[in-house]
Amino acid sequence: GTTLGASAAESGRYFGAAVSTQYLSESAYANTLGAEFNSVVAENAMKWDATEPNPGQFNFSGGDQLVNWAQARGMKVRGHTLVWHAQQPGWAQNLTGQNLRNAMLNHIAGVANHYEGDVFAWDVVNEAFEWDGSRRQSNLQRQLGNGWIEEAFRAADAADPTATLCYNDYGTDSINAKSTAIYNMVRDFKSRGVPIDCVGFQTHIAHNENLSSYQANLQRFADLGVDVEITELDVGQGSGQAATYGTVTNACMAVARCKGITVWGITDKYSWRDDNPLLFDGNYQKKQAYHTVLAAL
Ligand code: XIL
Repeated sequence: GTTLGASAAESGRYFGAAVSTQYLSESAYANTLGAEFNSVVAENAMKWDATEPNPGQFNFSGGDQLVNWAQARGMKVRGHTLVWHAQQPGWAQNLTGQNLRNAMLNHIAGVANHYEGDVFAWDVVNEAFEWDGSRRQSNLQRQLGNGWIEEAFRAADAADPTATLCYNDYGTDSINAKSTAIYNMVRDFKSRGVPIDCVGFQTHIAHNENLSSYQANLQRFADLGVDVEITELDVGQGSGQAATYGTVTNACMAVARCKGITVWGITDKYSWRDDNPLLFDGNYQKKQAYHTVLAAL
């Protein structure tokens, strides 16, 4: 294929980008997205603060805009994210006990029901572990205890039984304490029938990241019986940027259950990072990293 999306599709995979809906009116942004990618995810528009600004009052305007844009072009949509300690609305941040549980479950039901049939996968829970493999001591964790992740997945499954339900995190780019703790959680979930279908590897990395166990790590999760997805890929600028993009792409291509890759933005002009980590430069020109990825797909 001659585009990222078309090349990924040749092996049944997708190649997506995180999208800020505010830039869809910029023609170079929209044209690059539409030409090169076959999947999108909302960079912010489907997060808790955006979708439920007041308790029980949902606002799907940004997410719906992206879904409509993508569907009009035959593109897939990933859902990001139902439950995360960050970007929560103010009203949810200091809830306690059963009030917090009800708010979390109601949020999952409201959002996942709304987008049922529109998103092929959900990041049900985002970033719940620390580097050392312990649970992040978020308000969710302190108030609800270890069971909250399982509760979230069961609620997502009830709301949207067909979406691929993912646990998503960063710092899981090798076989390390954090990825092993997540691995153990997934193994436990699979053994007890907790509905988890996928693990997302954000892959926000440096140009000289050590990726010597990246593929083996993806494979050990796949061997548990879940899909794996590269969900937020970006690689800092530097001499190894293109090669590192290539290593990640090759790893996904080598793991049968690696269903696709999403880069966390289109152009360096609008990256959340300040180190030009994307495939298109600030003028929407293809970088070396783009050519390396395309060749690896
Ligand atoms: C980031 C967005 O890119 C920013 O626009 C926003 O200000 C903060 O969140 N991990 C995630 C993403 O799961 O949701 C984050 O996105 C980047 C880190």
